[in-house]
Parts: sequence; C-alpha cells; structure tokens
Amino acid sequence: MFVAFEGPEGGGKSTAIARLAEALAADGIVAVVTREPGAGSLGQAIRQILLAPGDLDPKAELMLFLADRANNMATVIRPALERGAWVLCDRHADSTVVYQGMARGMDPEFIARANVFATGGVRPDKVLLFDLEPRIGLGRIRHKDRLDDMPLEFHERVRAGFLKLAALDPGRWEVVDASQDPETVFRQVLRALELDRT
Ligand code: TMP
Repeated sequence: MFVAFEGPEGGGKSTAIARLAEALAADGIVAVVTREPGAGSLGQAIRQILLAPGDLDPKAELMLFLADRANNMATVIRPALERGAWVLCDRHADSTVVYQGMARGMDPEFIARANVFATGGVRPDKVLLFDLEPRIGLGRIRHKDRLDDMPLEFHERVRAGFLKLAALDPGRWEVVDASQDPETVFRQVLRALELDRT
C-alpha cells in the first residue's frame, strides 16, 4: 500500500504520518516513511538546494524535484513496496503537478510525462489531501523556507489546485480537514484508510 500525503504548508502532515506509522507498527504492519524532497543523502542534498534562500530558475527547480523523486522511487519506495511494506510519503508527484504546474504555470503535459519518467509509473494507491486555508497553515510554520515565503496568492493557487485534483479523482483522493486539532485530523486519516475500529 502506497499512501501519499499532500496539501498546502502547515497542514500537519508529518505529525500525522509519524502517528500513523506507529499505529500500523502496533498492528504488525511495517510502514516505511519517506518524503519529497529529502529521501536519503542525495535527497537531503537536493532538499537543501531547493529550500535555500535566493533565486532558483523554475526549470532547474522542476528538474531537482524530479531528480529527488526518481531517487526516492528507486532507493526507497519501490524496494519497500516489493518487500510488502506500506509506504507513507510526505508529498509526491501531485505536488509537482500543483506547485510547478498549476501554481507556477509550467507545461502540465511535460510535468505529467516527467513524473511518469521519474517514477516508472508507480502511483500512490491513496492520496490524502491535508486541506486548510493557506493563511492558517503559514501561520503555523515557525521557520519559513524559500517556498513558504512565496506570496499568499501563490499558496491560494496551490490550495485550489489540490482541491481540483481531489475532485477529479475521488476514488484515489481523500480530503482531510487539516484546520482541526491533531487528534481529529488523525481520526480522519484512519477513517480515510479504513483503519478506524470505532
Ligand atoms: P515540505 O515543506 O512539505 O517538505 O515541502 C517542501 C516544499 O517543496 C513545499 O513548499 C512544497 C514544495 N514542493 C514543490 O514545489 N514541488 C514538488 O514536487 C514537491 C515534492 C514539493
């Protein structure tokens, strides 16, 4: 089972992912937690470049996200799925569709093809969208990076983009109301993955 966690900044994805991995482990299910950008030493180096302050050409930025994705797929995601583990990935291909495609306006067809090139066509079985107003999400972030610092209007386009993708493919996407407290958010996650036993 391959689950991706998507959404605007400050939605509490990483907290929910850590809790979910613990809950799965308690049920005897091995879950590999990974994130994009930032898996392994190569991913971490790419992440540093991407989030550092200063100008970065949009095409170079896109290629770096894709390089990180190809590396994460080859070294973490695919081997884990082949072992039968769950994979919980903090952001994946749909972040590129939304941030670089819908919000930055880069060619969506190129992005779609490049994502397939990077992943070999492996797609998350489920995508959980941690949806919340950008103003609230950005207010929660303590250390802002280069991308968090984009104008609010950019973050509004990101939110709208994710909601559009979720509406287009409701079988694969589940929308979580990330404005709620962490406990309520986590319960929504369990429900979305049909893991709640209450
Ligand atoms: P994070 O803060 O959730 O780890 O994500 C890092 C930033 O990178 C976040 O602002 C979203 C952005 N991003 C893209 O613009 N395109 C992508 O493909 C990915 C994976 C992340």
